[in-house]
Amino acid sequence: LENGVARTPPMGWNSWNTFGCNINETLIRQMTDAMVSSGMRDAGYQYVVVDDCWMNPNRDGAGNLQGDPSRFPSGMKALGDYIHARGLKFGIYQGPLDRTCAQYFGSYPGRTGAQGHEAQDARQFAAWGVDYLKYDWCSPAGSIDDQVRTFAIMRDALRAAGRPIVFSINSNSVHSKTGPQRNWGDVSNMWRTTEDITNAWNTGQTNGYPMGIQNIVDVTVPLAGYARPGSFNDMDMMEVGRGGMTDTEMRSHFALWAVMASPLIAGNDLRNMNAATQTILKNANLIGISQDSLALQASQVSFDGTRRVLAKRLSNGDVAVALFNQGTGTTTISTTASALGLSGSSFTLRDAWTNATSSTSGAISASVPGHGTVVYRLSGGSSSPTVTPTTTTPTTAPPT
Ligand code: GLA
Repeated sequence: LENGVARTPPMGWNSWNTFGCNINETLIRQMTDAMVSSGMRDAGYQYVVVDDCWMNPNRDGAGNLQGDPSRFPSGMKALGDYIHARGLKFGIYQGPLDRTCAQYFGSYPGRTGAQGHEAQDARQFAAWGVDYLKYDWCSPAGSIDDQVRTFAIMRDALRAAGRPIVFSINSNSVHSKTGPQRNWGDVSNMWRTTEDITNAWNTGQTNGYPMGIQNIVDVTVPLAGYARPGSFNDMDMMEVGRGGMTDTEMRSHFALWAVMASPLIAGNDLRNMNAATQTILKNANLIGISQDSLALQASQVSFDGTRRVLAKRLSNGDVAVALFNQGTGTTTISTTASALGLSGSSFTLRDAWTNATSSTSGAISASVPGHGTVVYRLSGGSSSPTVTPTTTTPTTAPPT
């Protein structure tokens, strides 16, 4: 979406994965402080996103949304001010239809949907200082065309409200048509490609709930052509640092979200991060690859069912190469500079995890543990690589 924001994949933190509905202003302020004290802000994370359950389930007499007075007694504007005062940006959650997802599942009462209130809600968000709206379908009702029309109404309302706001949508939640139905880049800055992530490597799901890390990668690799500045495939909030995976799997998870240009939205408790979690989430080499100004998603170079090679072209002519082992045992994964479309006979490889550099005349290879991902930044190619998006054309005409 061309609205001036999200020129590279948004980075931040979201309350849902760890806290669900157990949120309040004290917690969000603590997380904001932790974003600063942990170095996450300085590493590039910006948005503090308050997910579902922040609302008063009743609008006020004038039809305005309100924060839940017991959870957010100081109000949402004050929370936004607190976040902004620490050099960060404020994100919030809403849905278009009757209810948000937590309301749909009965863990939270009332009806708060934006439909019919879009302009009013967009102005309200802008007045609170909201910089990022996560807008969640959360209903079994509606065709894809209904979704396109409905999401576009809020897209236009946000534009009319006059504040730059990242528009993040989820068409999948509680919807029979899950999965990537179309290129949503005409409607939003980022769109979920699957049902909800869970704190596990592989759930065996490719089109249902819940999705493991590898399952989301499987679904999202073919969508590489949709990513561009302002428009990204959203592989969901990260599960790094949540304890459901080995360190190797967590490193893979982060590396794949980075090279695949997914938004990097942490979902762990930032107040309690061990050294491994911090090293992963703050890896400057991978963040640099994620935030490259070309904003391309890595395209697939090869895949034999176990060994997957992905490559992301970078603005200075370098190429990030991910060697991803989807099997359980250690294996060697190889490709070549010419398979990435690079000509030349002398290249440098920098390992994104170890920082070690090596020279090669074109061979690119690593021994990769099960579920592991080695990422190299390859430089020195003498001509433009041909690792380009496969398509940038929306599959459905933009709504009017
Ligand atoms: C859906 C979304 C999640 C989260 C919850 C909140 O399941 O996909 O990311 O926002 O709703 O209820």
